[in-house]
Amino acid sequence: STTPVKVAVTGAAGQIGYSLLFRIASGSLFGPDTPVELRLLEITPALKALEGVVMELDDCAFPTLAGVQIGDDARTVFDGVNHALLVGARPRGPGMERGDLLEANGGIFAPQGKALNDVAADDIRITVTGNPANTNALIAMSNAPDIPTERFSALTRLDHNRAISQLSAKLGVPVTEIKKMTIWGNHSATQYPDLFNAEVGGRNAAEAVGDQDWLANTFIPTVAKRGAAIIEARGASSAASAASATVDHARTWAQGTAEGDWVSMAVRSDGSYGVQEGIISSFPVTVTDGQWSIVQGLEINEFSRTRIDATVAELVEERDAVKALGLI
Ligand code: NAI
Repeated sequence: STTPVKVAVTGAAGQIGYSLLFRIASGSLFGPDTPVELRLLEITPALKALEGVVMELDDCAFPTLAGVQIGDDARTVFDGVNHALLVGARPRGPGMERGDLLEANGGIFAPQGKALNDVAADDIRITVTGNPANTNALIAMSNAPDIPTERFSALTRLDHNRAISQLSAKLGVPVTEIKKMTIWGNHSATQYPDLFNAEVGGRNAAEAVGDQDWLANTFIPTVAKRGAAIIEARGASSAASAASATVDHARTWAQGTAEGDWVSMAVRSDGSYGVQEGIISSFPVTVTDGQWSIVQGLEINEFSRTRIDATVAELVEERDAVKALGLI
């Protein structure tokens, strides 16, 4: 197709944006034959820095980049967009309570949800990377009554990729041997990376590991606390890997999952696996023709049940908090 796909990115002058924009513009999302038009949203004080990033995009002379528009007004930037990657968010400042954080982000994601509702293309697909990603997606979704709820998602693909990488290193197998990884729940320290339903070279991953102590006391905390470990080592939060996972997520949504595999996406729960209906929680999903569906019929053992319940309880608390604030 020669009609450019319009992709909105918010927080485009930030760290993740500095990697993400170049990946999208170079064709990582839709391939070398699909032109892309970038629509970049920032807050007013960051527009000058964003102009600098756009100069660099120009200087790459990417064949797939059909155009770039920048601005600080969501209704203008989101006009007619097919994909919205909502990266810009309010980070937790010193002394900020969780309620303050949720409220500050509500002030971003409620108006952005409304703007998408009013001006985005009919096939709009929304991915929230900015934290707290699941609840920010819930806020945006709740403020966009005309967009089908299945068009909203939050990013847990970075956690998914981290889990694959850790397992690959532990077993000394290439990442391509690992299938059916699942992150359940919230993109937070309570997330549950599930090896009991994953496969390594066709074999059950938990059995291939054969070390419940490693699974419970090394693997899970390493994946769940990887973000903090990156900050500790790099002096800044994960950005290139978060951008790469955002590309993976949006590409899978557009192009589908491979036969015999699935991915993790945080999507609106329909009550599957006892996850309270209506919250945005990470599930194993397959994607066909641009539509995700939650993989059904997986066995959830007692170990998994406890951990899924804990991460879901956190999401329900976040949901109740934003409800009390009138954000949803
Ligand atoms: P950053 O602070 O470098 O950039 C964020 C940008 O968002 C800033 O340029 C800021 O001006 C902009 N922004 C703030 N409010 C905005 C608004 N209302 N509209 C448009 N832009 C706005 O942060 P970074 O490192 O790029 O991370 C972005 C977000 O992604 C953070 O919330 C971070 O916690 C989250 N994150 C999520 C991950 C995930 O796996 N879901 C992984 C890593 C980061």
